Amino acid sequence: MRPPVIAVDGTAASGKGTLARRLAAYFGFAHLDSGVLYRLTALGVLEAGGDPGLESDALAAARALDQARAGELVLRSDAVGAAASKLAAIASVRAALLHYQRQFIDHPPGAAAGAVVDGRDIGTVICPDADAKLFVDAAPEVRAHRRWQELAGLGIQRNEAQVLEELVHRDAADRARAVAPLRQAQDAALLDTTNLGIDAAFAAALALVEPRLAAKLEAKPRG
Ligand code: DC
Repeated sequence: MRPPVIAVDGTAASGKGTLARRLAAYFGFAHLDSGVLYRLTALGVLEAGGDPGLESDALAAARALDQARAGELVLRSDAVGAAASKLAAIASVRAALLHYQRQFIDHPPGAAAGAVVDGRDIGTVICPDADAKLFVDAAPEVRAHRRWQELAGLGIQRNEAQVLEELVHRDAADRARAVAPLRQAQDAALLDTTNLGIDAAFAAALALVEPRLAAKLEAKPRG
């Protein structure tokens, strides 16, 4: 039996990453931020002087992806985010990154009891039969403010109005693409974090996820 999986999809800077990390810690599951795979690919293209919209450049980078760089600060920049969104629209690039995500879900690292994966298409494409699915969203202005604060905390000074503009543009592109577009899965619970601080958002996420996971966790052989 496949280990339990929680799929956390949502818009940019909606808080899905933080929620996914906290859910993983709570349940003792492994966490995968699938956006990092697209960001690492984008970084590879940009560093090679390539074009993230060009299939040959993007695919070469996806195949040469260096997981060891997953923690690098440069990945969080909006330039990398925008390039990631561009190459995320290319079907062959998504296919190249799919295997890693499915492997993670089937065999969570560190022999963890399950997986929490966040992204755009986890509940719709990567793991349609996930045990619990969340779709996290918030008002664009609130998300832009959070992203601006997060960047400032990392020492990256940005104009907040520009952050908002880029975020709205990226969501629109992610929703409009033909392959694995950003959308709420039919069986995903919507969590709007506009008026929720992180602790309240986590409590709400847990209330939505726990009942859905309960059956699977109880069925797990103990010992
Ligand atoms: O979650 P993030 O901001 O790190 O994601 C960066 C971009 O990567 C996002 O704009 C679209 C793409 N992405 C995707 O297409 N599918 C995913 N599962 C995760 C990210």
